[in-house]
Amino acid sequence: MAIVPQGSLGKNRVAVITGATGNLGRVVAHRLAEQGARLALLSTNQAKLDELARDLHLPPERWLTRALDLREPQAGQVARDAVLERFGQADILLHLVGGWVGGKPITRGAADEIAEMLQQHLWTTLHLTQAFVPHFVASRWGRVIVISSPHAALPAADNAAYGIAKAAEETLMLALAEGIKGSGVTANVLRVRTIDAKHQRDRRPTPANAAWTTPEEIAAAIVYLCSDAARVVNGARIPLYGSAAASP
Ligand SMILES: NC(=O)c1ccc[n+]([C@@H]2O[C@H](COP(=O)([O-])OP(=O)(O)OC[C@H]3O[C@@H](n4cnc5c(N)ncnc54)[C@H](OP(=O)(O)O)[C@@H]3O)[C@@H](O)[C@H]2O)c1
Repeated sequence: MAIVPQGSLGKNRVAVITGATGNLGRVVAHRLAEQGARLALLSTNQAKLDELARDLHLPPERWLTRALDLREPQAGQVARDAVLERFGQADILLHLVGGWVGGKPITRGAADEIAEMLQQHLWTTLHLTQAFVPHFVASRWGRVIVISSPHAALPAADNAAYGIAKAAEETLMLALAEGIKGSGVTANVLRVRTIDAKHQRDRRPTPANAAWTTPEEIAAAIVYLCSDAARVVNGARIPLYGSAAASP
């Protein structure tokens, strides 16, 4: 029997990484590549995806790229079909699409911002889960992870649209987790205050950046949640703020 170290990915898992060219997505792609996963890398920009694929130095059979606007209702199915055609399986959905608009108070014109943020964070999540989760359930193994924010629970007055969208995305994930209990598939939320892509927290510590989280720390949590050891973690909202206060 093959021995897989606790807290690491099984060999040959197929991971779909949306927002793969973003600050977090790039680091996660590298981390999962090191773990032996095959990668489906999605974003809207083919040139950036090509650059990422070159940086990963993987053999061609271990990756695919696809430029898609995941706000489009058909985009989840298009992604799933491409992944299954290429790899014959899909195991992990890491939905790392980012994007922020905000600044307008609720009483003055926030509706357009709210609609835009719901498109970006709620509807993309719905399109992807509807496309991939039935396949995961049929194969009795799967992982779905999204990244949320403390603003989902503690919104700031000028950040309502993002907070509303992240709260909606979290609720979708928790409902999904309830629906797939016992199926071998898990759905979880990691909460991050600020992604510290430039490692400012460690290079120039301040009270403000003490609660920031590096992409590498988030990637480590993702690897754990994608391991067999984490099969009992389902429907969790896990804060990654370190020991610092998490209020926005
Ligand atoms: N940044 C933070 O401080 C922070 C804090 C809390 C939570 N989060 C969450 O963490 C996750 C990762 O954030 P991040 O900062 O790494 O994001 P990011 O650097 O802004 O990257 C965004 C990624 O999403 C892709 N994308 C944007 N719109 C898309 C669409 N409609 N369809 C498909 N792909 C699209 C972008 O692709 P292109 O390159 O093609 O545009 C890019 O790859 C997000 O869920 C975000 O909400 C971030």
